Amino acid sequence: MEKFIVKGKTALSGSVKISGSKNSAVALLPASVMTSETVCLENLPDITDVRTMIEILENLGVSIRRRGRDSLELTPGSISKIAPSYELVKKMRASYYFMGSLLARFGRAEVPIPGGCDLGPRPIDQHLKGFTALGADINIEHGMIKLTAQKLTGARVYLDVVSIGATINLMLAAAAAEGRTILENVAKEPEIVDLSNFLNAMGASVRGAGTDVIRIDGVKKFKGAVHTVIPDRIEAGTFMMAAAATRGRVTVEDVIPKHLEAITAKIREIGAKVEVDPEKITVDGTAPLVSSDLKTFPYPGFPTDLQPPGMVLLTAAEGLSVITENVFDGRYNHVNELKRMGARIKVEGRTALIEGGMPLTGAPVAAPDLRSGAALIIAALTADGESQISAVDHVDRGYDNFEGKLTGLGASIYRTADESYDRQSGKVD
Ligand code: EPZ
Repeated sequence: MEKFIVKGKTALSGSVKISGSKNSAVALLPASVMTSETVCLENLPDITDVRTMIEILENLGVSIRRRGRDSLELTPGSISKIAPSYELVKKMRASYYFMGSLLARFGRAEVPIPGGCDLGPRPIDQHLKGFTALGADINIEHGMIKLTAQKLTGARVYLDVVSIGATINLMLAAAAAEGRTILENVAKEPEIVDLSNFLNAMGASVRGAGTDVIRIDGVKKFKGAVHTVIPDRIEAGTFMMAAAATRGRVTVEDVIPKHLEAITAKIREIGAKVEVDPEKITVDGTAPLVSSDLKTFPYPGFPTDLQPPGMVLLTAAEGLSVITENVFDGRYNHVNELKRMGARIKVEGRTALIEGGMPLTGAPVAAPDLRSGAALIIAALTADGESQISAVDHVDRGYDNFEGKLTGLGASIYRTADESYDRQSGKVD
């Protein structure tokens, strides 16, 4: 295990280049197996989740050639396996996208039931409901989900819950189904549009991505394509929140401002200045910050993945703020760790009350999950004194060179071995 040592009371300043989107990359990579021709993906972030996906693809028999730090050339021509390696797949939830892409290519797929995680229950009933509607038979035994379809046939599917994962999985399978599929009440995130553009570049016929209804006319064969991954709006939002929380001035570059409108609006409401240019956004947090209410919703609402960093920003804002987490049942694992740093937060169900304005103090804390880990690092940057953040492997899953980018913005942060952290108890000795 490794930990970060962070010295606090640092106002971040400067510019940072945002990497490609993790949540787009982990859908595009499994989608590449739908063709036997060569696919090139550019602007991939160098994060653990992408490296794990690459291992899974190579294990399936996909030949992969790296073309520069952020580009890969994948040739799935020779694959025949329909069961990605269990050891690798169970490491990351997004590997369930192989259900949709292997069903589309081979009419069969076999993946482990994805684990829940620190965000509360994460069922996949909507994925399975959609696959069944498209003509797949599903057997769940020995912890594995086995899908087979003599033929995938277009269907009309109305999602009971707006789900990014279900929307993506059903787009993959429907792209190869005979006839028309209409997916309704779907997720509208930019990552859905990115996948739609990639599928269409491979010869699919997907329309309506980014709206409530997606229409897909299945095709028999997919061709190779070249695709550039969209910027990571969650990474960009994390740095924007960090700029405001540390009272600094930071420009995030290579972003799509449209994807960040909810974050820009909220940060302005809290009192920071935000200048928006075509491909970059500058946040200036030097003015006084005032309390605000924050509610998470599916896109274009405020993203749940930025609720933990948003909470840290609100601890720096004078007054009482209220956060309502509407997407996940249990996304407050960061609260106890923030309270160890002196934050005044009270959680009741999906609601958190934050009494902001009092400075935090450095402390040893442990990252319970990816976005909480990023939030704790931001908190440590605002705090008086030194903090240690353990279990930073969580952060490495979704942030490309996080400490390097923060150092470039003036932060005092370094990574070191962490003998003291006991993974089982999740506590620092
Ligand atoms: C995606 O997870 C993201 N992960 C998550 O980001 C993000 O927090 C989440 O969407 C919500 O925005 C990736 O894109 C790889 P959902 P996903 O299906 O697809 C319920 C990060 O930090 N639901 O949109 O798993 C579910 O329980 C990660 O980058 C069902 O009830 O989320 C949740 O309450 C964390 N049945 C809600 O829908 C289903 O079949 C939204 O989940 C599917 C979902």
